[in-house]
Parts: sequence; C-alpha cells; structure tokens
Amino acid sequence: MTAGLIPAPAKLTARDGTFTLTPSTHIQTSAGLHALGELARQYLRPATGLPLKVVESATHSRIVLSLDPRLGHFGDEGYRLTVAKDEVLIRAPHPPGVFWGLQTLRQLLPSAGFRRAFVPDAAWAVPCVEIDDRPRFAWRGSHLDVGRHFMPKDWILKHLDLMALHKLNVFHWHLTEDQGWRIEIRRYPKLTAVGAWRADSQLGLSDGDGANRRFEGKPHGGYYTQADVREVVRYAADRSITVVPEIEMPGHARAALAAYPELGNTGQPLEVATWWGVHDGVFGVHDEVFEFLQNVLDEVLELFPSRFIHIGGDEVPKQEWRDSERARARGTELGLRDEDELQSWFVGRMDSWLSERGRRLVGWDEILEGGLAPGATVMSWRGEAGGIAAAKAGHDVVMAPEEPTYLDHYQSADPAEPLAHRGVNTLADVYAYEPVPNELSADEAAHVLGAQGQLWTEFMPDQRHVEYMAWPRLCALSEVLWSPREARDWADFERRFATHRERLDALDVNYRGRATTAPRPAG
Ligand code: ACM
Repeated sequence: MTAGLIPAPAKLTARDGTFTLTPSTHIQTSAGLHALGELARQYLRPATGLPLKVVESATHSRIVLSLDPRLGHFGDEGYRLTVAKDEVLIRAPHPPGVFWGLQTLRQLLPSAGFRRAFVPDAAWAVPCVEIDDRPRFAWRGSHLDVGRHFMPKDWILKHLDLMALHKLNVFHWHLTEDQGWRIEIRRYPKLTAVGAWRADSQLGLSDGDGANRRFEGKPHGGYYTQADVREVVRYAADRSITVVPEIEMPGHARAALAAYPELGNTGQPLEVATWWGVHDGVFGVHDEVFEFLQNVLDEVLELFPSRFIHIGGDEVPKQEWRDSERARARGTELGLRDEDELQSWFVGRMDSWLSERGRRLVGWDEILEGGLAPGATVMSWRGEAGGIAAAKAGHDVVMAPEEPTYLDHYQSADPAEPLAHRGVNTLADVYAYEPVPNELSADEAAHVLGAQGQLWTEFMPDQRHVEYMAWPRLCALSEVLWSPREARDWADFERRFATHRERLDALDVNYRGRATTAPRPAG
C-alpha cells in the first residue's frame, strides 16, 4: 500500500506521476472550509517552508478542499482524495471527511513533512492516487484516565493531534476517580480545592490485603479549569474529534466525597485515595446527591457538546448501601429487591435527566445489573458479554473489552517491560480484534457503534509512559475501526508501520519499539 498509510484506506488506486508542492502552490477552499484550509497550511508549512496561501480560487498547482453534496453516499466522514500531477482534490459531503482526507494527504508526503521546522533539500512530492475512503465504525475511541495520574493540558492536545493523524474520533476523558477529581466545577469549588490533590501515590502492585503497599512519598494532583476544558473541546472539534466526558457515579467517588462527605453513606470524613484498587466511599442515594450530581452535570453539559455523556457505573461496592439505614429505606420506599436494583434506579434517574436534555447516557457494563435504563449505551469492558446482551436488547454498544483493548496491560511477555497491569495485549492481538461478535445478527450488529482503547494510568506516572503504552497499539486499533474488515492484513500493516514509525519519530512519540528510547526499568 502506497506510502505506508495507517489506517489503510477503503480503496486506493495508484496512478502514474507525482504532484509536487512548490512556492506557487495554493490551498483553495470554499467559504465553509476556511478553517480547514488554515489547518492544512499549519500542517504543511513548517517543514516545507512554503507560503501555501489559502485562497478561494487558484488556477494551477493547487490543493483543493471542497464540500461536494454529490458524494453524499460517502457518509458523515467519508472523502475522495485525488492526487493528479497539477492538483490535489479533497472532496467530501461533510467537513469531517475533508479533514480525514487531509490526514491521508499528510501521510502521502515524505515523513519529514511532520517536522516542525524547515527541512532543506527535501522534495515535497505526493504520488498520484485516487482514494475513496470512509470509516467502518462511527465510534473510534481513545480513553484516558487522568484521575490516577494527572496529565498536562498541553499533552492532551498532543494526544488529540495523534488521534487525528489516525482518524480516531472519540476522546473519552475519564475525569473523576477515587484518586482525584480533575475538572473545575464552579458551584462546588472543594471538588478541586480538596478532591484534585492526594497525599501520596502507591508504587507498583500489592498483595490482596494491601499489607505490603509501597508509596512514592510525595503528593500528586492537578485539575483542568473550565477554560482549559473549553480549549481542549474546541481543539478536538476543530479536528473532527468529539470529547466524551466521564463523571463517575455512584462508585469511584472518593475524591468527591473527600470534598463533600455529606454526599456519602457514612458521614465520616474521607481522604482522596492514595492506593489503587476498588474503594468504598460511594455516593449515597438521598435527594441531595442527585441535586449535586445534576448541578455538576449542568456545568459539564455547558462545556461538552457531545451527545454522549459517560456516567461511569463500574465497580460499585454495595456494602455501604446495605449498611446505611437511609439507603435501605430508599430501597424499601421504591419497592426494590436489592442493591443492584438500587444502582439501576440510580442510573435510570440520570438517564432520564440526560435524555430530557437531549443527551445520551453511556456507562460501563455493570449498568446492566438490576436492569438497563431505557436510553443507555453500554461500554462493554468485562469481555463482550455485556455488549452482546445490550445489543440483543436493542441498545447501542461501544466495545472496550479488557482483552485486547486495555492498553494498561503488558505489550509483551518480555521481563524488561515496565510494570503494567495484569495480562498481555500485544500489538498483534489488538490488530486482530474484531469488534462485532459472531453472536450478533446483522440488525443487532448495527448497535455496535465501534470500540476504543483504554489507558488507565495507575502505572503510567507521566505522559511519556502513556505514549509508550498507547502507541503503536492505537495505530493497530485505528485500522480495526476505520478500515474495511476484508482489508485487514497483519504483514502489510507491519510493512506500512516501517514508514509510519518515521512519522511518530518526527512527532516525538515515545512509542514501544522506538529506537531512541528504551522501556523504563520494571518497578
Ligand atoms: C473499569 O475498568 N473499571 C471500567
């Protein structure tokens, strides 16, 4: 496949000759695509050093970005890219298609095009091709947990740039955890004043009872202001990426409860968690909790235009509800049989509240227990069983099974790998992943919106380490999610990656296997 394109396009026809960028090349856009024209210039100008003026009309040596309603059958994100000797045409029915076509064009150029300063003596030639391309799945996601370790905003923007390069279009931003609350909420300042900071962090794994836990011995924290969040969301939208925020409830709430203990079940003061694992300290089921969560979500909805809003729902220890007189009374008053039904009622309330506001609830597959809320979309992480059950019941599903989409797992069995979580999900495992289970009929399969890679950061203390775990596995996942199923070819992917890695090198991505960086020592 030409030029090592990743993800592979749906259809590529090679032609003779090349198009070469020169000092007289213009970028031609129509009115509605001016911002994309400017972005194209930002991509292409630094390394080439060429003026690449953005104009409404050019006659020769031009890169044309245009919306073409006749290509409606290419769908929301498809595009046609034609490279001829005198012009490059990127046409699509909708702007995201033009944007993805632009990513393909970047990959057709020499890898030095990804450098951020002038590269002398380079020939900026693009092979002549005709590409008709569109994604297989609408949800091509990258999840990131910033609760266990805070990641700086600037690096979040870098991650979004890398997602865009791979035509990944959903950034699932896991913003709240037992170990840290990372988003400013104006109405509840203690969420960040208290909840964004923890006294210490566990180092490595521990035995079941935690008796041998080791700690780093220094505080950790950080949060994103609402201005930061707006910037991230806008930066993503400019790159056809939707940011789906996750606000965890009713579990993984310890940082919130450290700030506002009255929202819990015991009334006892709590600390922001310092160790990894599933924690007690879950939200109560009294009215004040819903008032709080809905006030929080009011601000979240203002910041995130995403139709999907993730409410967590995973790993909720229910003992506190069993022990709480108030929670038991609520269950009795509602005629519920057990705590699973109480959680289901909790999620159902949030589902109605979000639906009334034109949004859709997504939750981890535990939200199936005790009965699934009518509008809910299920994110299937404990294997695919939850996703299959939800799709059969007519619910939308995002596949996120631990095997092989948990990118916090080891990438190989090599003892030199840095400490990771549990099993091994190799690059080849990720590449071989099929998001639509055989158990589903064609109608049921239509409920599988796509899949995503999970980056839980207990053992990823900084962004370089996240990059090591994310890449190149997200390259493989991007192809699973974008390219036609029949086009999947591991040997060909490996060949293309030999070129693609030059792009990642130029972008300074600390991917596994990079020649100039070694894995960290285990620990
Ligand atoms: C999860 O890994 N608890 C969703």
